[in-house]
Amino acid sequence: MRMIKIFDTTLRDGEQSPGCSMNINEKIEMARQLEALGVDVIEAGFAASSQGDYNSVKAIAKEIKNCVVASLARSLPQDIDSAWGAVKYTENPRLHIFIATSPIHMEYKLRKTPDEVYEQAVEMTKYAKKYCSDVEFSAEDASRSDRKFLKRVFEGVIKAGATTINVPDTVGYVSPSEMADLIKWLRENVEGMDKVTLSVHCHNDLGLAVANSLAAILAGAEQVECTVNGIGERAGNAALEEIVMNLKTRRDFYGADTRIDNTQIYKTSRMLSQITGVRIPPNKAIVGDNAFAHESGIHQHGVLANSLTYEIMTPESIGLSRSKMVLGKHSGRHAFTQRLRELGFNVNLDVADSLFKEFKALADKKKTVSDRDIEALVRRSLSLEIPEAYKLERYVINTGNTITPTSSVTLVKSDGTHVEEVAIGFGPVDASFKAINMIVGLPIELEDYSIEAVTGGRDAQGEVSVKISSNGKTVKGYGLSTDILEASILAYVNAINNLIYESERTEKSDSAEKEEAK
Ligand code: KIV
Ligand code: ZN
Repeated sequence: MRMIKIFDTTLRDGEQSPGCSMNINEKIEMARQLEALGVDVIEAGFAASSQGDYNSVKAIAKEIKNCVVASLARSLPQDIDSAWGAVKYTENPRLHIFIATSPIHMEYKLRKTPDEVYEQAVEMTKYAKKYCSDVEFSAEDASRSDRKFLKRVFEGVIKAGATTINVPDTVGYVSPSEMADLIKWLRENVEGMDKVTLSVHCHNDLGLAVANSLAAILAGAEQVECTVNGIGERAGNAALEEIVMNLKTRRDFYGADTRIDNTQIYKTSRMLSQITGVRIPPNKAIVGDNAFAHESGIHQHGVLANSLTYEIMTPESIGLSRSKMVLGKHSGRHAFTQRLRELGFNVNLDVADSLFKEFKALADKKKTVSDRDIEALVRRSLSLEIPEAYKLERYVINTGNTITPTSSVTLVKSDGTHVEEVAIGFGPVDASFKAINMIVGLPIELEDYSIEAVTGGRDAQGEVSVKISSNGKTVKGYGLSTDILEASILAYVNAINNLIYESERTEKSDSAEKEEAK
């Protein structure tokens, strides 16, 4: 089995992407996790680019023991000095030098002739080699460079001591078959290529970074440069987790593997997202929220019967505990009752049946129904078993920043009578609770009120929980609605029903005790 080296550049090329900058402590934390993940090389930064980068590379170099730690440097003595100054503290340092080789970069960016670029590449490889035995040379924009010129440069730097030759598709321009052809051509035509590690570095401008990296591996590349979650300049770099899981899942096809502990993938991905604050799109391959989620009834049934029906890798293989059954309007009874059991509700078939109907009604209103939604449904359904002394019929609330909040609430009593009261308050909730107090006529104290969005998004359900006390008794009540004022009123009425039920129960058991005593 060929082992492909994973060169992680999350902390260098990845960090260069908008919104992904990290401070030194965050970089150290991330580097430790990359070490746990088992990458072969951590590119810790571009030491010459800033004092902050220099310090980060140095700190990571001191911290990391089990991977090669690299610093990027332009092919300039001062950059290489700086890179070495920072990276020399690690056990396995690498100097990664680069210079552009494409006509457009040489003419407009470097303003140098190909001969000058060749000289600089060779001289700076020799210069780096004086510091460090492990030198990687990158021909920036290699995929748009003239092949004969690339061959000349690569042969020159290999003779000068480069140990890894990197072929960047800097602007994400090539197609997988072109990349494969280029790698094969370089393998066959560059003298000395068999003595060094051939690497690729693909950007994602046309969405082909992972495909190009895999095509390069098939054509003979031995190292791939990539980033966690595919972060990086513009559309990003090739995503580490996608390359690794492609090789793992289709080992039969690629005949190659990596040293990566894939069970660390999910954790690494989440850590990066938390540190940078950059969210992972839900449909992102491997690590997106939906990557192991099933919503349609047919898929859920299939996965529950045998996960291989719709999953080509297990969630456990990336460090997730299980597949996620997303409960939504397409879900069936099977997945719903299974989730009830997983949540610890051992309800009988009739209750499960009526809960399923409620769930379907809710799923019609919301995109997905979360575990919290289901818990709230069950809790509400169980508390429905308590007789409803009062039931909400309707409410009208008038509120704003220039008027006193007023609430008119109508409740139906268990004997069928409708009672309406109007009250003003400090806010719409306070006004509603006061109106309810007037209807119920009990001395009620609100002890606690909390509101929580049970799920995110504009269609989130608000769950209100209240704690009330009256005559030495304290009870709770819950209300759930996509309207938070309705959720508040439902919670308060639910608490009052619980209070009345509790009071009646205590009264009954007190008089039963008295009867017994007689
Ligand atoms: O994209 C690129 O060409 C690079 C090199 C510096 C390796 O990031
Ligand atoms: Zn790059």
